[in-house]
Amino acid sequence: MLKVEGVSKSYGSGLWGGPRSQVLNNITFTLEQGEWAALIGESGCGKSTLARLILGLEERDGGKITCSGLAVANKPRHRKALYRLLQPVFQNSAGCLNPRMRIKECLLEPLRNFESIGAGAEQKEAEKLLAMVELPPHILRHYPHELSGGQQRRVCIARALSIKPRFLIMDEALAGIDATITGSILMLLKALQRDVGCGCLFITHDLGMALYMAPKILVMRGGQIVETVPIARSAGDFVHPYSKQLFRSSTLSCLKK
Ligand SMILES: Nc1ncnc2c1ncn2[C@@H]1O[C@H](COP(=O)(O)OP(=O)(O)OP(=O)(O)O)[C@@H](O)[C@H]1O
Ligand SMILES: [Mg+2]
Repeated sequence: MLKVEGVSKSYGSGLWGGPRSQVLNNITFTLEQGEWAALIGESGCGKSTLARLILGLEERDGGKITCSGLAVANKPRHRKALYRLLQPVFQNSAGCLNPRMRIKECLLEPLRNFESIGAGAEQKEAEKLLAMVELPPHILRHYPHELSGGQQRRVCIARALSIKPRFLIMDEALAGIDATITGSILMLLKALQRDVGCGCLFITHDLGMALYMAPKILVMRGGQIVETVPIARSAGDFVHPYSKQLFRSSTLSCLKK
């Protein structure tokens, strides 16, 4: 279970520690094993900050985060144990794919870190991981820049899933790639959701994507969760005025195009 309890975070402004702005305020939610939840909210409301706190990349001001009983702390020595349970997939593939490493090395990095995989089994394992995200084995020899954005995202997803984490933290992981590729990655994620059994906090601006991917939707505004819908099927399942406004403005923006 991923448990976030009363988490808060503020940042000081400027080098000399001017007035602090409260970015997250008393965030509480849980994700059961295998559960997917989408986190939606306008730009700047604190979604990525929450993702970084869950991943132990920053210090929180207050509250508690645990993943399968392990307390999350922003301490390098805790990170290895945490990343065994939690794997990030970010918007920026470059963050997970080292440009100087071939795809095979990028893909196998977590497995080599966390599990003892014999050199003889590596090629087969790498091919299996690529097949899971429907990529051909020949790309193992390539460097990240030789892949398309969609292919890079698939590699990042396969890499994150390679160690069978309990949860994925996906922060705008599919933003900025074209609709056809996004559609096929979403279908792939849906299949993985069924087959792999890992939970996910799926952060997105795209309300349609949120509804498609996750039954549970958390709506964030100004650093607070203003509404949690355990099983959301359409805009009509939301009651908070801000959630309704989000859906309205997304429909309007579609109509304007
Ligand atoms: N390191 C930092 N120092 C100071 N302020 C920060 C820092 N990181 C984030 N913030 C502020 O915290 C707020 C929340 O930022 P965050 O990146 O979490 O938003 P977000 O919901 O992910 O937005 P987006 O949808 O655009 O990605 C913003 O006002 C941002 O300026
Ligand atoms: Mg963000």
